[in-house]
Amino acid sequence: MADFKAEAERLRERLIGWRRDFHRHPELAFEERRTAEIVADHLRRLGYQVQTGVAKTGVVGLLEGARPGPVVMVRFDMDALLVTEETGAEYASEVPGRMHACGHDGHVAMGMGLAELMAARRDEMAGTLKLVFQPAEEGGNGAEVMVKEGVLKDPRPDVFLATHVWNERPVGTADVTAGPVMAAAEKFTCVVKGRGGHGALPHLAVDPIVASAQVIAALQTVVSRNVSPLDTAVVSVGSIHGGDAFNVIPPQVEMTGTIRTYEPSTRETVLRRVREVVEGVSAACGAEAELEIQPLTPAVINDADIAEVVRKAAEAVLGPERVTSGERTMGSEDAAFFMEEVPGCYFFLGSANADKGLDAPHHNPRFDFDEEALVLGVAILAQAAAFYLL
Ligand code: NI
Repeated sequence: MADFKAEAERLRERLIGWRRDFHRHPELAFEERRTAEIVADHLRRLGYQVQTGVAKTGVVGLLEGARPGPVVMVRFDMDALLVTEETGAEYASEVPGRMHACGHDGHVAMGMGLAELMAARRDEMAGTLKLVFQPAEEGGNGAEVMVKEGVLKDPRPDVFLATHVWNERPVGTADVTAGPVMAAAEKFTCVVKGRGGHGALPHLAVDPIVASAQVIAALQTVVSRNVSPLDTAVVSVGSIHGGDAFNVIPPQVEMTGTIRTYEPSTRETVLRRVREVVEGVSAACGAEAELEIQPLTPAVINDADIAEVVRKAAEAVLGPERVTSGERTMGSEDAAFFMEEVPGCYFFLGSANADKGLDAPHHNPRFDFDEEALVLGVAILAQAAAFYLL
């Protein structure tokens, strides 16, 4: 069996160089032009068939092996965040207010490394490697746009793989879990409409602020009273706006929030109960509610067989004692749009190193990760792809 760890090790300096270059030049969702150009040039030089401009800035690279076989798609997200970097790193962001605070700079670097390792094995390959560099993971649902633009056709992937550097775990470890690993997410917007009036004459008004307070409190019973204690869901109100003056009852209050679930049946229950609570409690207060629930991403659900292959790959690279399973998060991830169509595995790649101070959480201005994860990630992905293609 090929020693992908040793092969990835030889790419170390370049992986770090690529990652730091992307880190210095973060680009927001659907604006990843510089990043995409570097990726596309790299893939072309390695002999990939390259398609650019997919979902605006996405890049797809195809490497056809010498013989026919399965199509393995590996996805890397490219976008940065509206965060002002405070790491003080010598490779810190050079763009004010923008930062790779989630590690997608590392993902792109890993994709370039994987592209290189696999290109060198093209003659041994039976099947096709499809590398997808995706824009706009952070809220723009770039994956959904790519699917609409046909990224899962010509050729259609048989297997989907993706990873995320994960600062909740130490570098040198990974977690590969079958079944659901990231939640389905919806956004809701709720307007509670009353009748404005004088703060001293509440009996002549319908107070949407009091109604909203009761709606918010009652929403917290959806998870605690309607969802099985053995299942999981979240209902969070994230914003509330109403009123301008201390002595005026405003006509309406607007709230937004998020709902997270794993199981489709739980999702259905929670969505139904949120609507019943918002409308029913508002009505009990004499107010009217308008509720809009907008689905954002489905749940990320790993295929058991593919997760087993990825687990073996991770164990081969890291050692069995360093690969866990069971990590799940209520965060969401638009890779779910690919995984609704193609069975796959999305795994967490440990990247924190507390001794080096590289353990701030994702999306934090001090976020940074141990670049050893780049080497290990390339090796695991290459090993997993090799199970299908070599
Ligand atoms: Ni991320």
